[in-house]
Amino acid sequence: MTANASLDFGYPWWLSFGHLVILIPALAALAAALRFRWPRWLVILLGAMTIWSVAAMGALNYVGINSRGTLPTPNFFTAGTGKVLDIGAGTGRSSIMLLEARPKATLVALDHFGESFKSHFGHGPTPQERLQANLNAAGVANRASITTSDMRKLPFDDASFDAIISAYAVDHLNRDGVKQSLAEAHRVLKPGSDFLLMLVHNDRWIKFAFGPALSHGGTRNRLWWNDRLKEAGFQIAEEGTAPATLYFLLRR
Ligand SMILES: C[S@@+](CC[C@H](N)C(=O)[O-])C[C@H]1O[C@@H](n2cnc3c(N)ncnc32)[C@H](O)[C@@H]1O
Repeated sequence: MTANASLDFGYPWWLSFGHLVILIPALAALAAALRFRWPRWLVILLGAMTIWSVAAMGALNYVGINSRGTLPTPNFFTAGTGKVLDIGAGTGRSSIMLLEARPKATLVALDHFGESFKSHFGHGPTPQERLQANLNAAGVANRASITTSDMRKLPFDDASFDAIISAYAVDHLNRDGVKQSLAEAHRVLKPGSDFLLMLVHNDRWIKFAFGPALSHGGTRNRLWWNDRLKEAGFQIAEEGTAPATLYFLLRR
């Protein structure tokens, strides 16, 4: 396996290390507070801010926002051979996760690589170039191809994929977009095949890492997703959580 250092998923520095903006001044003020004997409550406050920012940065990087991911369940696509679609592939984290876990599979990495992509992943190489570089660095590029398209209208025939994976992408859409993209996923998946859907989950990791003000994950809960998935015609074979993630293993 290639080291994480050779992969760059392009997430901005402030997402992984933004806590330094609090940590550095808090630490400097704490040193001054101890040196000049500032009031005790201020020392406690500054100490708490210092401890939280170190621990929160650790939690965020433990969740691994910028590092390789692993499948949240071993029960997905156990046959392991055939063509997989990654919906909202971004810079390749979920594509590489699948291709490394299922070494006999091929994969189509689909994304619209739109403006929101640029604001999320920053500038520099084009999104497609960054995705291609990560596939190369992970040594899986010979089993992957890239398609630029909207997940709400997939450019594929009915029942043309043996499995689908999607991570932290469908949940970026509004209600109609979710409905359309799930219907499209159902259409292009072969009957009896698996769809692994991963969503950002506002769990204790996210809440602690970002603090209450910045924690995110949306207001749609597990039941809301259950209803949308069943409406789209999927059977829910398994559902569960991993750090920062709510996942559904679906079957068409
Ligand atoms: C947070 S990223 C997730 C990337 C990747 N799956 C991962 O695991 O890191 C969400 C991706 O969804 C893509 N996306 C959002 N709306 C889309 C749409 N309507 N069609 C295709 N891709 C879309 C964005 O461009 C972005 O790359």
